[in-house]
Amino acid sequence: MAHSSSQLCIHALTLLCLIVTPTSAASFHDEMDITFGGERAKISNGGQDLSLSLDQYSGSGFQSKHEYLFGRFDMQLKLVPANSAGTVTTFYLSSQGAGHDEIDFEFLGNTTGSPYTIHTNVYSQGKGDKEQQFHLWFDPTGAFHTYTIVWNAQRIIFLIDNIPVRVFNNHEAAGVPFPKSQPMRVYASLWNADDWATQGGRVKTDWTQGPFTAYYRKFNANANIVGGNSKSTGSVNENQAWKTQEIDAAGRNRIRWVQKKHMIYNYCNDHKRFVNGLPTECKRSRFL
Ligand SMILES: *[C@@H]1O[C@H](CO)[C@@H](O)[C@H](O)[C@H]1NC(C)=O
Repeated sequence: MAHSSSQLCIHALTLLCLIVTPTSAASFHDEMDITFGGERAKISNGGQDLSLSLDQYSGSGFQSKHEYLFGRFDMQLKLVPANSAGTVTTFYLSSQGAGHDEIDFEFLGNTTGSPYTIHTNVYSQGKGDKEQQFHLWFDPTGAFHTYTIVWNAQRIIFLIDNIPVRVFNNHEAAGVPFPKSQPMRVYASLWNADDWATQGGRVKTDWTQGPFTAYYRKFNANANIVGGNSKSTGSVNENQAWKTQEIDAAGRNRIRWVQKKHMIYNYCNDHKRFVNGLPTECKRSRFL
């Protein structure tokens, strides 16, 4: 009996392992171009890992070779540890040119022991001003965590470790521009922004602590590549769930929890800033 039940257990574990094994990530060599910082951006481990560094002369960054029109974009990041004040690490989507669209994750560093701020924003046709900021429920410098942007025709969803933290719905019917026709690339960077980033610019980058380094891995895009077919880079199973992904009841509970416990700024609550009334979408969505 003991034997057969442990066999069962092994079989059950194998099955579980098969189910939870993440699909292999795309190679940074194949998917990305280094855009600035030269040697400060390093791809290693056969294309699986990428690190960006910042010193007092320059930061560094990269961008995707492909342009996309809608998709799900996952990246694992491990942020600059200890005294990261003044540094900004980014992972975002952006189109080019005037009237651009953009979907942002930005990670604002802090002094040792003080929390990072996760800054999110959406630009449509050149206009942003839709910031939401969060503190995290974990230390983003201790281990890799997954940051995800889902972008489909109905909504944009920001997820952290698969927990939705923000949704920006398409309210075009009410006259709110929504990014849906300009192709975007994936971008990432590490740069110095000590004129504004940490505690409103009061805390400066301590260059004696440099160079500062942030780590990226497991990039995956399940996305429509412009000029190509709908393609899932790196994953064997083409998962198209993002095309209609929405926030279900469980997701709503998660967003409520994040917004109640971890949100530190929401433009939709900033009556001082929008003296002539909150933006239209703020009055229409329950979860922004
Ligand atoms: C830094 O830490 C302070 C609290 O010590 C916090 O108010 C602030 O939001 C944190 N983040 C930034 C980017 O300043």
